[in-house]
Amino acid sequence: MKIQVIHGPNLNLLGRRETETYGTLTLREIEALLAHLACELGCRVEFFQSNHEGELVDCIHSCQDRVDGILINPAAFTHYSYALRDAITAVDLPVVEVHMSNIYQREAFRHQSVTAPVCCGQVSGFGESSYLLGLRGLVGIIRDGKQQGFECRKGKGSERA
Ligand code: DQA
Repeated sequence: MKIQVIHGPNLNLLGRRETETYGTLTLREIEALLAHLACELGCRVEFFQSNHEGELVDCIHSCQDRVDGILINPAAFTHYSYALRDAITAVDLPVVEVHMSNIYQREAFRHQSVTAPVCCGQVSGFGESSYLLGLRGLVGIIRDGKQQGFECRKGKGSERA
């Protein structure tokens, strides 16, 4: 099983950026934790980070027929990128969204995620553990083919508008 991990804009600055909100681990250190957990879970992870919306869209497209699922922190694009939302909808893969901070405790503009409704689930507020919890959840969804008794019906209907 292969998982694509995608990090959105400014996450390349983790470890230096707003450490009171995001902690002091660098992106590389978080990726090392993910790679370690992936080994434990018996899957492989590939990493991609970009500050550019189109590159993130291209990476999501490239996942079809290449990986089994996507773990994504869309960062600020979470709150307004219909292009990322449409890309997630377009691929027939389970996608889990993660945020290090609790976006619902922060500024009002962060309370909305336009991408979460087309993902199987969202983890928010556990620092680097959000990524680890998200990976566990995603691997579970892929293994079971189901999410908590409900099919993961990503992108299948207008009820997600
Ligand atoms: C973030 C939350 C976003 O609101 C913010 O723009 C980020 C990081 C998080 O991981 O907590 O860049 O996605």
